[in-house]
Amino acid sequence: MALRPYVVGNWKMNGLRASLAEARAIDRVAARYPQVDVGVAPPYTLVLALAEQAEHSAVGGQDCHAQAKGAFTGDVAAPMLADAGAGFVILGHSERRALHGESDALVQAKSTAALAAGLGVILCVGETEAERDAGEAIKVVAGQLKGSLVEGAAAAAKLAVAYEPVWAIGTGRVPSVEDVAAMHAAIRAELLAFYGDAGAAVRILYGGSVNAGNAVELLSVPEVGGALVGGASLTAESFGAIIHAAS
Ligand code: G3H
Repeated sequence: MALRPYVVGNWKMNGLRASLAEARAIDRVAARYPQVDVGVAPPYTLVLALAEQAEHSAVGGQDCHAQAKGAFTGDVAAPMLADAGAGFVILGHSERRALHGESDALVQAKSTAALAAGLGVILCVGETEAERDAGEAIKVVAGQLKGSLVEGAAAAAKLAVAYEPVWAIGTGRVPSVEDVAAMHAAIRAELLAFYGDAGAAVRILYGGSVNAGNAVELLSVPEVGGALVGGASLTAESFGAIIHAAS
């Protein structure tokens, strides 16, 4: 099954109102590649403004709470993201797992909340360098998926999985093409086992030091259906080159 390429920028804790101009430039690039689904996940403070100006790209959150509302100071709920114009949310990013102690069960609960709010979910999984060195990368990622996927074909239809080796994030290092292919094949097998046929339509993105120079090679790997991009998504020049590579 040929799936539409999906290229998503995760701005992490970067971006002030001045960055709205860069987002407009990204949106103009997206307009030139209607065959590619483009998304940008800015910090919460910019979600509404980006959503109001975006015409050719989707806007997403970088996290959400598992509850729809309540006394959770500092948190943001999935219905709030949807209300601000977000179409998707990134969940289970390794920075959330490592710095905020997020477990697979919590990521699953957040996914359930996001789906209930009508948001698409980009579920992040990935092994640490020690886990890869121990030969456990695929086992670790399979465990993360089993622990955090939400059941049902409706959930599968709103899901993308992002494979992000922790050691490749922001380091300039990327796994070999063979290792990316093996991991993406393993993720596809898990999705088919969990969702049946509906698992075939879930896009599997690669993330971790994707840039204009390596995007063509990474995006040509079988089962790599797009990219989740951090640093290189902050400018229309570099992110645009990655969108072009996906087209
Ligand atoms: O969500 C994005 C990833 O963490 C990748 O970040 O492209 O800066 O390595 P990076």
